[in-house]
Amino acid sequence: MDDLLKLVENSKEEIKSFSSTDKNPAEAFRIRFLGTKGLIKSLMGEMKNISAENRKQMGLVLNDLKLLAEKKHEELVMMNANGQPLIDKALDLTLPGDALPLGSRHPISIVRNRIVSIFQRLGFGVAEGPEIEDDWHNFTALNLPENHPARDMQDTFYVSQNPAWMLRTHTSNVQVREMEKGKLPIRIICPGRVYRNETISARAHCFFHQVEGLYIANNVSFADLKQTLYFFVNAMFGEKIKIRFRPSYFPFTEPSAEMDISCLICGGEGCSVCKHTGWVEILGCGMVHPNVLENCRIDSSQYSGFAFGMGIERITMLKYQIKDLRLFSENDLRFLKQFISAV
Ligand code: DAH
Repeated sequence: MDDLLKLVENSKEEIKSFSSTDKNPAEAFRIRFLGTKGLIKSLMGEMKNISAENRKQMGLVLNDLKLLAEKKHEELVMMNANGQPLIDKALDLTLPGDALPLGSRHPISIVRNRIVSIFQRLGFGVAEGPEIEDDWHNFTALNLPENHPARDMQDTFYVSQNPAWMLRTHTSNVQVREMEKGKLPIRIICPGRVYRNETISARAHCFFHQVEGLYIANNVSFADLKQTLYFFVNAMFGEKIKIRFRPSYFPFTEPSAEMDISCLICGGEGCSVCKHTGWVEILGCGMVHPNVLENCRIDSSQYSGFAFGMGIERITMLKYQIKDLRLFSENDLRFLKQFISAV
């Protein structure tokens, strides 16, 4: 028993003062003391020669020794090959931090947010509506009854027929939903995703994004529409940009117009972007048709309003000179990363 206690004492000293020139001191230590052929295993093997009354005490002593060795081993594992504690390195507060890879906003979101904030400055609120819509809100209430030829311009994806449910072809459905609520005056913009049965190309896609605007109150005139859109264009594209209105046709507005802005690239001189006209089209607009007001239970003899609708992809392509609309939905990081600093 005394011999064994002496051995244990010696081992304790050896553990405490352990050092090694080995490439991996922790492993050398483990093999020497904690391995299956290590010192502690062999001391444990001596237990069978200990008398029964001393065995308990000897067990405690050996257990202490094992704990001591395990602690030392842990310390060695935390040291590097030069005997320097690794923990110091982890706590070096002067080291640069690990960079977090930052994402970027999608260009469509950047431009949508900018459009929304410009109109918010004019007192417009944001309204949203469903992407799966019924025939009334997408077409009929907007003065586009069944079999109306203007429906052909907006071929869509039907979810069901009789009754017809479809993916909305424009955000004008939100106009109808807001008017039906009956709270006047209305001054809203409606950003959202829309769908059309189009062949996918550089200029068209089967889904895209629009922002619709609607203002209904007493005595709203075409002059209000012009001034509102003029403010928008200046805030969005700059003070130098000119606008012009061309007469057009939409069933839900009368009179209707399409609005062009002077070409951002050539300043109106003529280039390939504006097809040498000096102008690029950016939106459709007009005075809300009395039939539409009446369909939504608004008295057209008391109220008038204007509406407009623009494609966010189109504005984004003009603003950032992007030539192919498919880039917006391909998730190509080389494209998306270019917008990291834009907000
Ligand atoms: N809804 C039309 C479209 O998707 C865009 C539009 C034109 C909306 C004129 C309007 C408007 O509110 O007044 O082609």
